[in-house]
Amino acid sequence: MKKIYMDNAATSFPKANGVADAMCKYINEIGTNISRGAYDDAFEAQRVIEETREMICDLFHFNKSSNVIFTKNITESMNIIIKGLLKPNDHVIISPMEHNAIMRPLNSLSQKNITYDKAECDKNGNLIIESIEPLIKQNTVAIIMTHASNVSGTILDLESVGKIAKKHNLFFIIDSAQTAGFKDIDINKLNADSIAFTGHKSLLGPQGTGGFIITDNLANKIPALIEGGTGSKSDSEQQPTYLPDKFESGTPNTVGLFGLNAALKYLKEKGINNIQKIEMDRTMQFIEAILEIPQIRIVGNTTRENRTAVVSLDFSPLDNAEISWKLQQSHAIATRVGMHCAPSAHKTLDTFPQGTLRFSFSSFTTEEEINLVIQAIKQIINA
Ligand SMILES: Cc1ncc(COP(=O)(O)O)c(C=O)c1O
Repeated sequence: MKKIYMDNAATSFPKANGVADAMCKYINEIGTNISRGAYDDAFEAQRVIEETREMICDLFHFNKSSNVIFTKNITESMNIIIKGLLKPNDHVIISPMEHNAIMRPLNSLSQKNITYDKAECDKNGNLIIESIEPLIKQNTVAIIMTHASNVSGTILDLESVGKIAKKHNLFFIIDSAQTAGFKDIDINKLNADSIAFTGHKSLLGPQGTGGFIITDNLANKIPALIEGGTGSKSDSEQQPTYLPDKFESGTPNTVGLFGLNAALKYLKEKGINNIQKIEMDRTMQFIEAILEIPQIRIVGNTTRENRTAVVSLDFSPLDNAEISWKLQQSHAIATRVGMHCAPSAHKTLDTFPQGTLRFSFSSFTTEEEINLVIQAIKQIINA
């Protein structure tokens, strides 16, 4: 049976054309460290990484490639930013749709008397903008928010949030896990101070790549979480204060960044707007077919606007986990079931504690695959 992969919100598969070749080329033909050797292959590795920084700038309409920091993923990026920025007695505002990449670092900081409040979302996960300003206190320093829910696919109106952050002089930090590579993101329109990104989802790159872009103003407020060798200023035993070296100690994931470089070239060639259109065509094909089946609840918006290609379903009183298992066993359809690392989102969407069965598409998903999945769902629930 041919595998049908419907778990692109967790990590995309397949990856962009060219990713595997670029990684093989690095391993087989280059293989050197960056910033640490004065020979051609070391220069080539460095060139590819700097080119990747430039492409990340293009992706987010950002203008300073030195302020593109590479990390393993959004989780690491958020830990650097959240734990570096927040001091005892600080307060931040988040949404109720956050992933544990934000919730867990924030909750661990409660020991230092760092607090947060959640703005409100409606039952579909749409952010209620008017709920934000009343939460601002004298000690509020930042708004930290996901751009789209990994549970319901709902896109949060971050342009409006950015205006509020600017008006009140708050730092605005964005988790782009579910939107980078899916929709055009302009840091200027969002008024953001930092956007954290991960390479292995809609950017179609390998696992272990990601990072954040950051303004000088915010970077200056954040000490390095990890310190060590940077291949620069090696006569000094102090961590450099300039970017990106301040936040990039130790040997980077060069092979992964070669893969990310190829993925970003692929996205540029195809065009993110074209990719988004294909993904939304598949998403609406799926949603429209599911709406015909009365036993199933679609969790989140059912129209094309303000959503990504992530669709969560709730089959209650049937067991979502059992349906996921049957889809895999009988039809080789890979889905994800449960909390998706976002329990607060489920409380908002009224799917706690049963969780949801999540289907997430990519531009490689075909119409035929969607039809097969719909047939399989009908077969399982009518059995
Ligand atoms: C909304 C959201 N934020 C953060 C993350 C964490 O991403 P990573 O595991 O790449 O750090 C995810 C991953 O599922 C996510 O969906």
